[in-house]
Amino acid sequence: MVPLTRLFSSTLGRKYLMGASGMALVLFLVVHLLGNLTLYAPNGDLINTYAARLQGLGIGLVALEVGLALTILLHIFTAIQVTYTSKLARPIDYLSPKTKGGPSKNTVGSRNMIITGIVLGAFLVVHILQFRFGPSMEEGYTTTVNGVMVHDLYRVVVEAFVQPLWVAFYVGCMTFLGFHLRHGYWSAFQSLGIINPRWSKPIHTLGLLLALLLAFGFLFIPIFIYFTQSGGGNP
Ligand code: HEM
Repeated sequence: MVPLTRLFSSTLGRKYLMGASGMALVLFLVVHLLGNLTLYAPNGDLINTYAARLQGLGIGLVALEVGLALTILLHIFTAIQVTYTSKLARPIDYLSPKTKGGPSKNTVGSRNMIITGIVLGAFLVVHILQFRFGPSMEEGYTTTVNGVMVHDLYRVVVEAFVQPLWVAFYVGCMTFLGFHLRHGYWSAFQSLGIINPRWSKPIHTLGLLLALLLAFGFLFIPIFIYFTQSGGGNP
């Protein structure tokens, strides 16, 4: 087995860690989107029950959250290192990056990755403060599901998405997410060394489909809530 220090100290090792952590985060996004689909249900019971079940995992949930936070930090840390190392190796960007087939997808894509990555990092801070550490049961955000008092997470989400500015913010950030995933998925496969020329086209198409599915899946939630909830006044 390769020692962890060797992975961090070599460029290839860091790229590997960046790719592997990125793939783990895609898995989280798929699970998160599936959980968020409960927001399409007519009342908040489904999302509130889902959130209460998660809370019921107790220490298990804390372990999952710590694991997720460490994976996000690892992804950001290795991304900064890889970017910095490639900047050192090539301090002046090519004026017009070219390959045999035209502009280099790699260079343009990597540049976009830095910008979209910074936007997503900022989004995550706002998002977690807003929903994970948003209004709590102690602040009166409670409801009853099947006779049990639970946190009214649905109300927290709806109160945000009846405001057009929050909807615009989420739609904008989810567009960045789509671009980040589109290139990230492809480069993760390259970093992990699992690109075979024969499979490159289907992998590319699959990456595009996954990016579209995740970006649009998340993006429609605030739009749906805005159009179904904002007309009827406060939830
Ligand atoms: C419209 C899109 C989204 C909605 C409605 C949404 C909703 C939520 C909600 C309600 C929570 C709080 C869960 C709880 O307290 O039990 C949450 C947490 C979280 N969300 Fe999202 N989310 C969206 C998109 C995203 C995206 C795109 C990402 C990542 C890029 C993301 C990452 C997270 C993370 C890391 C947490 C904290 C998880 C935890 O600590 O348990 N979310 N989200």
